[in-house]
Amino acid sequence: MSIVFDQQQKLLTLATANTSYQMMIDDLGFLHHLYYGSRTGMQDMSYQYYDFDYAFSGNPVECRKERTFSLDIIPQEFTSFGVGDYRLNSVAVINSDGSRAARFQYVSHEIRKGKYAIPELPAAYENGDEAETLVVTLRDDVTGLMIRLYYGVFEKKDIITRYTEFFNDGNAPISLEKAASLCLDLPYGNWDLLHFHGKHCLERQPERQPVGHCLTTVGSDRGMSSHQHNPFIIVCDHDATEDHGDCYGMMLAYTGSFRAELEQNQINAVRVVMGISETAFSWTLQPGESFHTPEVILSHADGLTALSHNYHRFIRQNICRGKYHLAKRPVLINNWEATYFNLDEDIIYGLAQEASALGVDLFVLDDGWFGARYDDNAGLGDWFVNRKKLPNGLPHLIEKINGLGMDFGIWIEPEMVNEDSDLYRTHPDWAFASPNRTPNFGRNQLVLDMSRQDVRDYLYGCFSMLLRENNISYVKWDFNRSVCDIYSNALPPERQGEVVHRFVLGFYDLLDRLTSEFPDVLFEGCSGGGGRFDAGLLYYTPQIWCSDDTDAVERLLIQGGTSYGYPVSAMGSHVSAAPNHQTGRIVPIDTRGVVAMSGAFGYELDLKKVSDEDKREIKDQIEQYHQDEELIHQGLYYRLTDITKKLHYTAWQMVSEDRSKSLVNLVVTDPQPNPAPLHIRLKGLDPNALYEIDEDEHIISGAALMNAGYTFPPMMGDYRSLQMHLHRMKNEV
Ligand code: GLA
Repeated sequence: MSIVFDQQQKLLTLATANTSYQMMIDDLGFLHHLYYGSRTGMQDMSYQYYDFDYAFSGNPVECRKERTFSLDIIPQEFTSFGVGDYRLNSVAVINSDGSRAARFQYVSHEIRKGKYAIPELPAAYENGDEAETLVVTLRDDVTGLMIRLYYGVFEKKDIITRYTEFFNDGNAPISLEKAASLCLDLPYGNWDLLHFHGKHCLERQPERQPVGHCLTTVGSDRGMSSHQHNPFIIVCDHDATEDHGDCYGMMLAYTGSFRAELEQNQINAVRVVMGISETAFSWTLQPGESFHTPEVILSHADGLTALSHNYHRFIRQNICRGKYHLAKRPVLINNWEATYFNLDEDIIYGLAQEASALGVDLFVLDDGWFGARYDDNAGLGDWFVNRKKLPNGLPHLIEKINGLGMDFGIWIEPEMVNEDSDLYRTHPDWAFASPNRTPNFGRNQLVLDMSRQDVRDYLYGCFSMLLRENNISYVKWDFNRSVCDIYSNALPPERQGEVVHRFVLGFYDLLDRLTSEFPDVLFEGCSGGGGRFDAGLLYYTPQIWCSDDTDAVERLLIQGGTSYGYPVSAMGSHVSAAPNHQTGRIVPIDTRGVVAMSGAFGYELDLKKVSDEDKREIKDQIEQYHQDEELIHQGLYYRLTDITKKLHYTAWQMVSEDRSKSLVNLVVTDPQPNPAPLHIRLKGLDPNALYEIDEDEHIISGAALMNAGYTFPPMMGDYRSLQMHLHRMKNEV
C-alpha cells in the first residue's frame, strides 16, 4: 500500500521507496501539508508545527478568539483565495456576484488502484500495477466550487504526480483566473532554486540561486514552453551536490505558457506554485463543468544525480509512448544544414546515396519540400509537394531512397502559416490576430488558431494523407516562433481568456490523432531546436531536437543542462559541418561524434564536402553507436564535471543499471600549456568488481576508480576528446 489513511489522526500518507509525503485534515476541514522528503514511515509529522498568534495573519471565524490558527501560516496542499492567506495563491476566481473568494474545506477522499488519466492532456501512465491514485475533494460552501487534488504514487520509482480538477458544483458560473497544478509548501530548510534558462541556440542552462523572501518566477508567456525557460525546476538544499542533499524536482508536463513561482514567507517557509501561466488566462466554468490542469511530476532524492535518474527512468518508461519509446532509434541524416531551402531530387538523392554507404538508417527531408517554399517567407500551410523541386513527387523519391536500404522521414510545421500561402489567402481568419490590429510576425509567419476544430481537421487531413500515401517512417514536427496576438474568431469576447490554453489542447488533439493513427512512425518534436522541450511533448514524441546550435562544444552545455531533467534518449543530436554553421568553430569529427552520440544520434551535413578520412570516421561512429546504444540510452547518466563552473574540460559517464558496463566521455574545451594530468573520479560502478578498461593494460577495481579516480593522459590541440569503455570482469576484488 503506497497510500494510507489514518482515520484517527486524519492523516493521508503517500509512501515511495525512499520518500514520504503526508497531509492532514484538521477539525475545521482545512487540508494541511505536513511533509514531503526522505522516508519517515507512518510517523505523524504534525509534531513539527506549533500554534502561535502571528500578528497581521488573521484567523478564520471559527478560531478568532484563540487567534493561534491562520491560513497565512499553515502549510497547505492547495490554497484558498482571498480569505486570509497572503502568500502565493494556487487559485484565483471571480464569482458570479463579483466576489473574489473561495475557501476550500475537505469533503472526502478516495484511494484507487492504478494511475489516473487527465482528459485532453498528457499524463504519466503505469506499466502493470505500479501506481495508486489518491483523490482529495475540497469544496467552497458558498459558491460550490470544488477542487479535486489528484496524486499518482509510483512507489518503486520515487515519483508522485499531481494535478488539480476544478469542478463547478454550484449553480452560477465561476471564472477561474488562476488554476495551478501544484502547491508545495516546504516549511523548513535552506533552499536553492535550480532552473534552466536560455535562448534560441543555447537552451536549458542551469542557474542556481537561493530562494529568498521576494517572489521568484520562472515561466513563459510565449504560448510554448520556450527556449528561455523550461517547465522543470529543482529546489535543493543550499549545500546539495550531485551526490548528496535534499533535492526536489517539479516538472510540468505542458507545452504552453507556464509559471513556477517561489516565495519564502515571514517565518521562512517556502511555497512553490506551478501550473499554466495566468497571463491572459481565464476560464469560465458553468455549473456542472470541470477544468483540468496539466500534470506535475514530483520527485525527491538525495543528490542531483539520483534526482536526474528518477526523471530519466520515468520519462522513458512512463511518459514517452509508442513503438520507439524504449526501442533503438535509427541513425538519421537530415538535409537542413546541408542544403537549407536549395533542394531538388538530385541533390537529395545524392546526399542519401552518400549516407547509405556510411550506414545511416534514415533520411530526413527537412523544410522546403512543399508549397512555394523557396525561403522562409512563403508556403507554410500548403502541405503539398513542390513539383518544381521534386517533379516526380514524393512517392518516387521515397522509393528511390528506400531502394538504398534507408527509411524516409519528413519535416512539417503544422501550427504555422505564411501570409504568402494558399491556406492564408483562403482562410485569413484561421490565424491569430486581435480585431483591428495587424499581428506580430515571427520568421515572417503567423500562428494558426489551434483552438478551432476546423483548423485541426484541415491539418489532420493534410498530414494523415501525407502519411497514408507515402512510406514515411519519421516526422519532425517543428514550431518556429513564439505566439502572440492570441484571439480566436470562433469564440465570443468573454471567452477569449480560454484561447491561450485551448491552443495547447488543440495542438495535443492533433498530435494525439496523428500519433495514434500512425503508431509505427517515429515523431520527433522540435521548435527552432529546443523551444518546446518538455514532458508534455515527450508524451507524444519520444525525442526532441535539442537545439538549433549543433556546435559540439556548445552542445556540451545544452545537453548537459538538459540532462538534469531529461534522458539522453530524448535529445535529438547530430554531427554537423566544420566550421560549424552557428558559431564558425572547427571541432574534429571524432569529438563531434562523441558529443552527438550522447543523444538520439544523427548527421546533418553535406557529405559531398566531407573528406574520405572523415567518412571512414563517420562509418566507425555509426557502428560504435549501434554497439553502445543500449548503454547510452538506458544506462544511468552521471555528470562528472559541473558545466556551470567553466572548467577546461567536460566529462560525463553512462553506467548500465547492472553496473557491468560503462562509457566515459571526455572533451577538452580549452587546451592548457604544460597540462596537469586530467584526473576524474568515476561514478556508479560496482565497488567490489574489477573493471577492464579499453586501451589500458591495468585491471582496476570499481572502488579505486570511484574513490581514487582515473588519470587521463594530457591532450593537446583543439577540442580533443576520448571515450573509454569499462567492462566488469567476473572475478570479485
Ligand atoms: C527549425 C529547426 C531546424 C530546421 C528549420 C527549418 O529552425 O529547428 O532544424 O528544421 O526549422 O526551417
